[in-house]
This record gives sequence, C-alpha cells and structure tokens, in this order.
Amino acid sequence: MRVVILPSEADASNFAAGFIEDYICEKKDAVLGLATGSSVILTYEALINKYRESMLSFQHITTFNLDEYVGLKPNHTQSYRYYMKQKLFNHIDIDQSNTYIPECFDEAYELSCDNYETEIRNHGGIDLQLLGIGSNGHIGFNEPTSSLSSRTRVKTLTKNTIANNSRFFKDSEVQPSIAITMGIGTIMEAQNILLLGLGKHKSKAVADLVEGPLSSFCPGSVLQNHESAIIVLDQQAASDLKLYDYYIHTEKMKLEYMC
Ligand code: F6R
Repeated sequence: MRVVILPSEADASNFAAGFIEDYICEKKDAVLGLATGSSVILTYEALINKYRESMLSFQHITTFNLDEYVGLKPNHTQSYRYYMKQKLFNHIDIDQSNTYIPECFDEAYELSCDNYETEIRNHGGIDLQLLGIGSNGHIGFNEPTSSLSSRTRVKTLTKNTIANNSRFFKDSEVQPSIAITMGIGTIMEAQNILLLGLGKHKSKAVADLVEGPLSSFCPGSVLQNHESAIIVLDQQAASDLKLYDYYIHTEKMKLEYMC
C-alpha cells in the first residue's frame, strides 16, 4: 500500500487527477470506477480543467460508479447519476452511454445487481477505481461488518452515513436509507485503486484503514490486501497515522530515485 500525504486538499486532489490523467493517456479506453461525495469533487474539477486545456480526452473511456441510492430517479438532484452529470460527465467528451451506475427502477434488485457485475466483467473489469472513505471506514456503501468478499447488492445504510449525507438533502426531501453498492469483492478486483481521504474528520478511519487490523469493522482496511492501492491524503486526514514520518520519507525517497 502506498501512502501519499500532501499539504492540502487541493494538492491531494491534483495528485489524484494527475494519476488518472497519466493512466488515461496510457490507456485511452480505460475502464474507470468512480465515486461520488465531497472528497472527489476537486479531483473532478481538475480533470475537467485538463479536458478544457485539451490535455485529456474521455471519448473512449467507460465508467462504473460505486453506488446509487435506491428509490431516486436519475433526474433527482440527490441521485448519484445527477451528481455525476453535474460534477463531471456534462463537462467532458465522454459518451454518456458508456457511463454505468447501479440503478434499479423496477424493484428487481437482485437481477439488477447481477447484471451490474456482468457488465463490469464484459468490459474486462475495472482498470482504476477511485474511492473515498466514510468516517466509519466504509468504501462504496459497504458499511462496517460488510463481508470482505461481498458483491454488488442492496445495503442498508448506517445512521452515521445517513447523518453524514443529510447535508446534501433539503428538509422537504426524503433521504433514502438503502443503496445499491458494488461489493468489497467487486472493488478488490480492480487492477488499481486510488483512495482519497481529506479532512480531519477522516483521520480515524484513515488510521484504521492503513494501520489497523484487517477487519470488516473497517471495510477500507481490506485495501491492505490489494496489490496496487494508493491512499492519497491531506495532512489533516493523515494526522492520526503512527508512521506519518515514514510515509513522508518513502515518498521523498521515491522522488529522489526517479530523478
Ligand atoms: C460515494 C461513496 C462513499 C463516499 C464516502 C465519503 O460514491 O462510495 O463511500 O466516498 O462516503 O464521502 P465524502 O467524500 O462525501 O466524505
């Protein structure tokens, strides 16, 4: 596991965008796994800027989002389809028919989840998965005690997650308490993983993920078992790491060797 600690949220997000840019430049038809939420917003803004400056094209890219609330239509302002259009898809040259989100509108949830897995497989799997982390350690909507081998399925959200995300909903809007999420097993099959942790409120979850025991109680800790996972943090999110100085040192050594 590579741990990259950068001074600010902007620096961490620019690192993530740069990593994605390099990946797409190498593999123009890459399959990206995408996340929603606040942690990835600056990264998406940086990617949009790169597209506008003609440094990057998404024409041949396919995307699979991690999760979607059950019961929200795509045009609902809190649906993740709406989020992705507003924050990324409407501003780049991606073919939106190649953007997948685990939506289900006919209540055939199991079939819909199985189809999502099949679609990922049919595209050759995910090359690069972008993740955020919940303050309770969740990745996607895989809440604590989710099976570390789980596949795409309907998941009941914890009170903590519902409370954290209530900031996005108006008082008059009903906030769903269940969601469809890629499973932890699904996420772990991605070739590369890039997780962004930003802000002091993520520092405990980040410490559990990087240095804690591998446990379904912190679903993100499963990334310790991934061959190619990069954890990108701002200083605040990294502030509870015991080996903070070591991670800074190893990145510095990496830069020196590359020069
Ligand atoms: C969103 C997702 C979640 C978020 C996590 C952090 O698609 O899968 O796991 O990444 O809840 O959310 P923010 O970034 O809003 O703190």
